[in-house]
Amino acid sequence: MKLAFKQRLKHALVERAARGLTRELIPLARQNGAQFVHQGNQYLNFSSNDYLGLATDPTLIAAWQEGLSRYGCGSGASPLVTGFHQTHQTLEAMLCEWLGYERAILFNSGFSANQAVLLSLLQRGDLLLQDRLNHASLMEAGTLSAATMKRFRHNDVAHVSALLSAEHTNVVVTEGVFSMDGDCAPLAELSTCVQHRAVLMVDDAHGIGVLGDRGMGSCAAVGIHPDLLVVTFGKAFGLSGAAVLCDRDTGDYLTQFARHHVYSTAIPPAQAYALSRAIEMIQQDQWRRDKLRQLQALYHTHLAWHTAASLSQTPIQPLIVGSSTQALQLASALREQGIWVSAIRPPTVPEGTARLRVTLTAGHSEAQVRQLAVTLQQVMARIGEY
Ligand SMILES: Cc1ncc(COP(=O)(O)O)c(C=O)c1O
Repeated sequence: MKLAFKQRLKHALVERAARGLTRELIPLARQNGAQFVHQGNQYLNFSSNDYLGLATDPTLIAAWQEGLSRYGCGSGASPLVTGFHQTHQTLEAMLCEWLGYERAILFNSGFSANQAVLLSLLQRGDLLLQDRLNHASLMEAGTLSAATMKRFRHNDVAHVSALLSAEHTNVVVTEGVFSMDGDCAPLAELSTCVQHRAVLMVDDAHGIGVLGDRGMGSCAAVGIHPDLLVVTFGKAFGLSGAAVLCDRDTGDYLTQFARHHVYSTAIPPAQAYALSRAIEMIQQDQWRRDKLRQLQALYHTHLAWHTAASLSQTPIQPLIVGSSTQALQLASALREQGIWVSAIRPPTVPEGTARLRVTLTAGHSEAQVRQLAVTLQQVMARIGEY
């Protein structure tokens, strides 16, 4: 029995390795900024989602340290026991004020927020429509939920319209900015399409802080207000955690029934305190978004000629190379030149679309982006087929 169990695990590992899909943990030394140190070597880092460069910002570090001195380390309990602190309350209020919602419910991660929403809000007989490129946390929750889930073609509003059902409660879920492609969902069209026919949920993990006036994200950028908005704190906020923005009743419901909220230790009050400071920085530091735009434009001028480069209007700039082996070869050749770009392979992305996922941040300099572009061209020419 036990042997069969162990063999099953071994088999899965061997099979993954045979397909060139094994992932590795990369222990970093010091900070994960525009550069990092791994095994004694320094690399230019084009793999992080710290889009605004806040993760290593001294002001934010000081805010978290101040929070630690004032409120201690851990929250000590789940929110409905004694884990909920005034710093959480302030953070929720700031999120509501900024993004225009009645309620914000905090979670330990975007993954758990997405799971909590779909697993607690959906019931048997509901129809859940998801963009086929939605994040694993959404897809997995949809599969596990009581609803019937269908995937619509990526960013295809006509397909959504065709799938909506008059007999069921419909819930349509999309990302604001797609994490592996960097393209934006057609949110205005989607919102018009679903109107009163469906509940619209947008996971804006990669748009919040980066797009829109005062960094209000993908939805504000096109003037829509989805019923449910998920924002995560591990990317532009430079920290970790997440919130679901919604109306009062949905917020009350999630507070009672979202198991990832109810049965999980609340984020530390000091972290909530730092997150409030991060919101202020996101709102006030327009220069970070301006710098990102400049770096994107610079990168595009160097890579525009290349067919593998899908030049997006967000910090995520994928180079789709197709095979996992080629993606790994390119990543390793870049590493030899002191540049770290992650190779993203199936099942994270569809078969045949392995890629280098280049991410730009406000912490990069123009010289660093130029170095990336030039080195990329050199290694692509050397490895061939490009
Ligand atoms: C679109 C999207 N949603 C949710 C998540 C999960 O967020 P977290 O890292 O906070 O768990 C991620 C990635 O991490 C993501 O890319």
